[in-house]
Parts: sequence; C-alpha cells; structure tokens
Amino acid sequence: MNWVEFWDKRGTLQGAAGQVGRLVNGQEMDEVLLKKIAQKIALQLDLKPTDNLLDVCCGNGALSKLLLPYCKEINGIDFSQALMEKAKKDAPPQIHFHCASALDFNLPQQFDKAVLYFSFQYFETYAEGKKVIANMLQHAKPGALLLIGDITDSRKFFRYYNSLSALLRWFKQKINKQNNMGKFWHPNELFKICEELGVKGQLVEQENWQPYAGYRFDFLISK
Ligand SMILES: C[S@@+](CC[C@H](N)C(=O)[O-])C[C@H]1O[C@@H](n2cnc3c(N)ncnc32)[C@H](O)[C@@H]1O
Repeated sequence: MNWVEFWDKRGTLQGAAGQVGRLVNGQEMDEVLLKKIAQKIALQLDLKPTDNLLDVCCGNGALSKLLLPYCKEINGIDFSQALMEKAKKDAPPQIHFHCASALDFNLPQQFDKAVLYFSFQYFETYAEGKKVIANMLQHAKPGALLLIGDITDSRKFFRYYNSLSALLRWFKQKINKQNNMGKFWHPNELFKICEELGVKGQLVEQENWQPYAGYRFDFLISK
C-alpha cells in the first residue's frame, strides 16, 4: 500500500473526521466524541500547562487542536501534504505543523510528552514500528511519557474481521496490496521493542466508551 498516496487522497474529502478515517458505523465521528478522546489522551499523558507536546502522524490536526488547551505548545508531524495543508489552515500560533515522515523526521528540540494516535498500524513491520518509537524517543526529554494510542490488536483480529465474507475481503485486499487497515500488533511486540530500546512499556486496555475499544489497545512508554 502506498500510504502517502492513500492519505493525500483522503485529505481531499469534505469532512474533517473522514479525512483522517475517523468513522463510527460508517458515519463521521462527532466533535463531542473527539473532544472526549482528547481529554482521555491528556489524562493518560498527564499533560500540564507547561508541556511541549509532539504529535506524530497528526493528520489534519483536528486532534492536535483539541489537545492544545491541555498544554503549552504542540509540534505535529505528518507525511501527507494534503492533510498538512488542512492542518495549517487556521492553526493557532502555539501549534507548528511539519510535513515529514515519522520514521526519520528531525526537529532541533526535545519534548515533555509525545503521542502517536490511531496510526501505529501504518507501520507494517516490527522494524518500522521500532524505528518510529526510537525516533520519538530521540525527541523526548529524559523522563518523558509517550502514548502510542488506538493500536489495532492482533489478539482481536477476528473481532474486526468477524465473518467469512470480511475475512475473504481482507485476504483479497492483502493479495492486491489494497488493505487499508495495515498491521494488527500484539502487545508483546511493543514490550519487546521497549526492552530493545531500554525503556519501560505499559499496556493499557481501552474503556468501553472508546469507539474502537473492541479491537484496539493503548500503550504507554516512559523514557
Ligand atoms: C488515521 S490518521 C490519524 C490522524 C490523527 N492522529 C488522529 O488521531 O486523528 C493517520 C495519519 O498517519 C499519517 N501517517 C501514516 N504513516 C506515516 C508516516 N510514516 N509518517 C508520517 N505520517 C504518517 C497519515 O498521513 C495520516 O494522517
């Protein structure tokens, strides 16, 4: 799958939620739910008014903008030009968006907290997952907290592909390199990455109200 092409195309859609694939039962997620998600992220990261936050794979910045009330400044990274243009439109001066790959972006600064939300699945191999986390850690201050949130869960793969027709669809898309769900991760892979990078990881199961709780999990990393 060519993900840059995929997200650039999505970025031309009308609705802000649809641009970043935030659908619930085929409908665009509403702002109330997105605000609740931002509040939960702020709690998980223990965001403080003095914190400088790094938001990797920030998409059109809709979530970054909702996280700003909880911190001082945000730097967002995304490799989709189309989504970056949307993000930069009407962005408050405390948010800086950078069009770059999560795998090798390079900012001259370290952050108090970092988040990569609803996007880890697009790193489709163990090596890529490790590389993006390593790069986030490079940009994190000692003692910083990282949240890799809304990770597709390989333990619950059959809850997502829950019928024979869904599995056949997945199989066909896989063969044709058109599967847009990316990789389903096992928490143990995240623990292994943390061990190899010398940091501490913590699995956090999602709460029932979270829209994708049925097949996703969160993971916290402390540097
Ligand atoms: C589902 S959207 C999530 C956006 C936002 N984090 C949210 O929660 O609403 C996934 C985003 O990840 C970005 N992305 C995927 N792989 C990337 C990579 N290697 N480097 C930078 N951005 C990437 C896509 O461009 C897209 O904007």
